[in-house]
Amino acid sequence: MAKYSDIKGFVFDLDGVITDTSVFHSQAWHQVADKVGAPWSKELEDGLKGISRMDSLEMILKAGNLQDNYTDEQKVDLATEKNTNYLKLVDQMTPANILPGIKDFLDEIKNGGYLLSLASASKNAPKVLQKLNLTDYFPKIVDPKTLSKGKPDPEIYVKGAELIDLKPEQCIGVEDAAAGVESINAAGETSIGIGDKQILKDADINFEDTSEMTLANIEAQMN
Ligand code: G6P
Ligand code: MG
Repeated sequence: MAKYSDIKGFVFDLDGVITDTSVFHSQAWHQVADKVGAPWSKELEDGLKGISRMDSLEMILKAGNLQDNYTDEQKVDLATEKNTNYLKLVDQMTPANILPGIKDFLDEIKNGGYLLSLASASKNAPKVLQKLNLTDYFPKIVDPKTLSKGKPDPEIYVKGAELIDLKPEQCIGVEDAAAGVESINAAGETSIGIGDKQILKDADINFEDTSEMTLANIEAQMN
């Protein structure tokens, strides 16, 4: 693991880290799974975290052995329907949906002179940040449309560091998804996993929930 004193910036995931939208994604995908008759399970739900929209749909169809039952056009329709339902939930969001401790942590790192970028697979990230009144904290956002591969590939976290002109070793990546932690580690950054320690066992640092995330707690884990 890098030394705490080497760290100059943070690359953040959004859904499930900054806000509780991972629950909304799950809710909207569960509706799709029910519609196509694919089985829904905790494992599938966890495995979808961090995964792009179309890849998520493929995983759901595969769980029901249904991947060959839909044309590409029908798959796009299903993904669009999911997104419409997801956006209805996002529309009701307010800054109260920011997860505990996150606003304080963002202020702490900003005031500490650390750089900040966003590495979310979500094409809805700018809209979600706007609903949370957090747009000003994230002038640098990796555009998921520019990615050739999604998480767990390192590309998104490599780009997150590039956007703030830092080397991966100078960055900490923050994730709630196993695929995301894998992506951070493969990018050569220090990984923080937030949530189930069993699922996020490959993270360099684990926190049970966002309220534990402070610079002091991170420093204590790195030295
Ligand atoms: C994040 C979420 C995933 C979601 C993906 C794409 O990584 O964790 O659950 O599928 O973004 O989001 P989008 O809003 O573009 O469908
Ligand atoms: Mg996430």
